[in-house]
Amino acid sequence: MKKRLLSVLLSATMIAAVLAGCGSTGGSSSQDTTTPAEETPADDEAADTATGDDANAGTDANAGTETTPADGAGAATGDAATGVEGLDIGVCIYNFADNFMTLYRTELERYLTAGGASVTITDGKNDQAEQTNQIQNFITEGVDVLIVNLVQSSAAEQITDQCAAANIPVVFINREPDDAEKERWTTEGIKATYVGADARQSGTFQGEILLSTANKGDINGDGKVSYVMVQGDPENVDAQCRTEFSIKALTDGGMTVEEVDKQRGDWDQARGQEIVANALTNHGEAVEVVFCNNDAMALGALQAIEAAGRVVGEDIYLLGVDALTEALQNVIDGKMTGTVFNDHFGQSHAAAQAAADFAAGKDLETLIGVDYIKVTQENAQEILDLVQ
Ligand code: GAL
Repeated sequence: MKKRLLSVLLSATMIAAVLAGCGSTGGSSSQDTTTPAEETPADDEAADTATGDDANAGTDANAGTETTPADGAGAATGDAATGVEGLDIGVCIYNFADNFMTLYRTELERYLTAGGASVTITDGKNDQAEQTNQIQNFITEGVDVLIVNLVQSSAAEQITDQCAAANIPVVFINREPDDAEKERWTTEGIKATYVGADARQSGTFQGEILLSTANKGDINGDGKVSYVMVQGDPENVDAQCRTEFSIKALTDGGMTVEEVDKQRGDWDQARGQEIVANALTNHGEAVEVVFCNNDAMALGALQAIEAAGRVVGEDIYLLGVDALTEALQNVIDGKMTGTVFNDHFGQSHAAAQAAADFAAGKDLETLIGVDYIKVTQENAQEILDLVQ
């Protein structure tokens, strides 16, 4: 029942926004076709203060979590996928060991199976060659549709061409192919789409959560926010955009920033712990904020923070993304400053809907967007109740 409620609540946020790669282009692509919607009940500040480069990426995109589904989103709501009955669907996940993608694939499998699809899911084990083989096998078997969480986004062109040659539509999830590749799908009439959230928005929300603290992250009052950045896999758009836009929100909010350290943690808790332990040993009290590109790394960071005798909310701030259950509990308990809900319900349901639409012969946009939700102590219990 809760999941149903969440689906109704969050599917309303599905938007058609263009997700830009961050990195060197700095998220400059902005043909945003976001559907403006009402303020989210879970987050009443977000719409007011988002400061993304393309401001709509962080404002309008966040604004819609009303209980009325946006146009076209209704079919993706509910406890079971519609239009997938009898379909053979191959699902390729980049790595079963990833915490967030485990939540995502569990819900995707449940939702598709409840709708009567036959679903096979493979573990790419973080190895693109292995995943490419798995995709080749699915093609040989003649599945109706593929849902692919690439190991490397740069493999999209090759995978898309293999699927197109076999006349199998492909729905990419979580790791976004670049803009040139998505454009090619349109110009060449290829049945491929990407379903995901706009990573710029999650970074912006992290920065905004920090700006909403009493000292805006400048705990020692020296006029600058001194931070450690723990990145995911830097090839990944999510890692690039969260790194860039969390800091951009601070500077847009008038703060001076100082990067004390930046390391890649590859989305992994143990790496997060190690990176932050080293940073605190090397820079001590100079570290006022730890930004982690995801919650798994933030959970590791918290272990390091506590081991160093630091106290979140008093002498350091800690931010993550995903809204893993443990992270939500930490936000409630004041052990994390905040996180950002990476809506695996909305994303998996939208991916299932895209698969159904492709199988029904429809053409789809090359990008189907789902909103993030900012999570602070004020709404963390509400989000925890929804996801549990
Ligand atoms: C991100 C998520 C990370 C990790 C990554 C994998 O969206 O925040 O925790 O799962 O996807 O690509």
